[in-house]
Amino acid sequence: MTLRVVVLGGGGYVGGELLRLLLHHPDVSEVLATSRSQAGKQLGDVHPQLVLRTDVRFSGATPAEASRGRDVVFLCLEHGESSQVAAEVFGAGPGLVVDLAADFRIQDRRLYERYYGRHAAPESVSRFTYGLADVRGKDLHGALAIAAPGCFATAAQLALYPLRTIALAGPPALFGITGSSGAGVAPKPTTHHPARAHNVFAYSVLGHRHDAEIVEQWRGWTHDPDASPRLMAHSGPFVRGIYLTLYAHAESSVDSGRLHAALNEAYGHRPFVRVMDHPPELTHVLGSNVALIHGAVGPDGREIQISVALDNLVKGAGGQAVQAMNLALGLEETAGLLAGGVFPC
Ligand SMILES: NC(=O)c1ccc[n+]([C@@H]2O[C@H](COP(=O)([O-])OP(=O)(O)OC[C@H]3O[C@@H](n4cnc5c(N)ncnc54)[C@H](OP(=O)(O)O)[C@@H]3O)[C@@H](O)[C@H]2O)c1
Repeated sequence: MTLRVVVLGGGGYVGGELLRLLLHHPDVSEVLATSRSQAGKQLGDVHPQLVLRTDVRFSGATPAEASRGRDVVFLCLEHGESSQVAAEVFGAGPGLVVDLAADFRIQDRRLYERYYGRHAAPESVSRFTYGLADVRGKDLHGALAIAAPGCFATAAQLALYPLRTIALAGPPALFGITGSSGAGVAPKPTTHHPARAHNVFAYSVLGHRHDAEIVEQWRGWTHDPDASPRLMAHSGPFVRGIYLTLYAHAESSVDSGRLHAALNEAYGHRPFVRVMDHPPELTHVLGSNVALIHGAVGPDGREIQISVALDNLVKGAGGQAVQAMNLALGLEETAGLLAGGVFPC
């Protein structure tokens, strides 16, 4: 296949990672990127990791102009912007739209509004299918519009999914810690180096926005309309990556063989999730599309702990979006995604 793709909002951190992956993708023949602030600059002037790869320049085209004639349009815009441009993007008639923002991830309108407020394009939400690639796999084949999950939400759901058939005594707790690149390219008080470099703090306490998609998916998997897993989000003193640990109690005793069987049933056949026999380390996944996962059961058979490590910009964003594109278009799932990460880092 020779795909012509465009990344709208290519000047941000997610856009940069996505461009890196698309420029190495064997089925992609042409890559364009738009930016309002960087139009006219070479991609490598903004994203130094691309300097040897392309001399393409950022376009200042509107979303409609940039989407016309494209096989795939990726939206890497700040939250709320995708809803503003969705109609014109669909109107341009691209083959596939992949949105990396939260705008179209949640089908339940009340749940969406509780976390994000009024939706600017509610009529477009049902066009999108949720793109948790490592779980949905071939179910994404033929999708025309995909909402790629959030980075914390990806880690949380990879930990939760194997537990969907194990009755739990209460809502699972999801302790996660993220690097500063999760907050995007524009500097903020909480991403300023002196405030972040040697610091750890909780944020969005009892109400992180990614709870909405985690809750919606978990309710679907467990068929329990009241189930409410809780994300406890923390800021960590590093740039890239998410480390998340799930803690739950089983209703009745579960032996470790059953948990390992559940992990292997969920991921043993999947290319990018590795079930480990020891807890993962964050630096082992950075720069790659791999998620590492480990589960353990306490001596009473009821305490369960599952840890996941992933790169927020690759598995949690650009890599997952490319994987979802591959699945939607019937390409090799791993195409363009098998490059290793960087270690040590
Ligand atoms: N960072 C992560 O770890 C992560 C992971 C998963 C998902 N996400 C989601 O992915 C999206 C992008 O994240 P990010 O971290 O890359 O954010 P970012 O660094 O803030 O980049 C967003 C970019 O969107 C551009 N933009 C906004 N409106 C635009 C428009 N109408 N046309 C063209 N460009 C436009 C802005 O560039 P200009 O000002 O130049 O136009 C900005 O650089 C967000 O919705 C975020 O929630 C982020």
